[in-house]
Amino acid sequence: MYILAPSVLAADFGKLAEDTAKAREGGASYLHLDVMDGAFVPSISFGMPVIASLRGYTDLVFDVHMMVEDPGRYVESIRAAGADIITVHQEACTHLDRVIGQIKASGAKAGVALNPATPVSTLECVLDQVDMVLVMSVNPGFGGQKFIPYTLDKVRALRQYFDRKGLSTDIQVDGGVNRDTIRPLIEAGANVLVAGSAVFGGDVKANVETFMNIFKE
Ligand code: DX5
Ligand code: ZN
Repeated sequence: MYILAPSVLAADFGKLAEDTAKAREGGASYLHLDVMDGAFVPSISFGMPVIASLRGYTDLVFDVHMMVEDPGRYVESIRAAGADIITVHQEACTHLDRVIGQIKASGAKAGVALNPATPVSTLECVLDQVDMVLVMSVNPGFGGQKFIPYTLDKVRALRQYFDRKGLSTDIQVDGGVNRDTIRPLIEAGANVLVAGSAVFGGDVKANVETFMNIFKE
């Protein structure tokens, strides 16, 4: 079962609800929401008020990618805004175990993200606790960047680990995912695919349908 998580970072923010509805019509079940603080990553995107507003317009699963320093400060408020999945960066958490516990206590699913240069081994102690691992396939902060191929090895290593343990933990990939890069990712074991520019650039519904057809192959 593959899941497409369109990243609204590439959407027209003046028509966020409309673009979201088009993604849903095409068959997307998740909506990927990139929260950036201008500190963990250079850019600033949006936060709780935007997510809470959008929550009133769609029933898509809100998959919130927290690109912020010390994200534990925001777990409860991002959950209250409507997050179903909260993903924090390993690099941004001094007390990762505590933050994962906080996310689970909030009732959301817990994800942990790795920047391209951060090895999978940094998650060794918490892998069995998380619902999803997000392998960043670009350096976070901007949409429309080029896919970094060596990140495929990390996806493979994670899938091998979860298979060996009999765990059905989700493996998400984010950055430079398009109709050319998606196949090797699926083969490597990714099952939640984030796509920003490949979805919101052009005809949103048709772009989502293209991905859904690739999933059926
Ligand atoms: C990047 C964000 C991504 C971004 C992906 O820091 O986390 O979710 O929107 O954009 P594309 O698919 O255009 O690479
Ligand atoms: Zn993201």
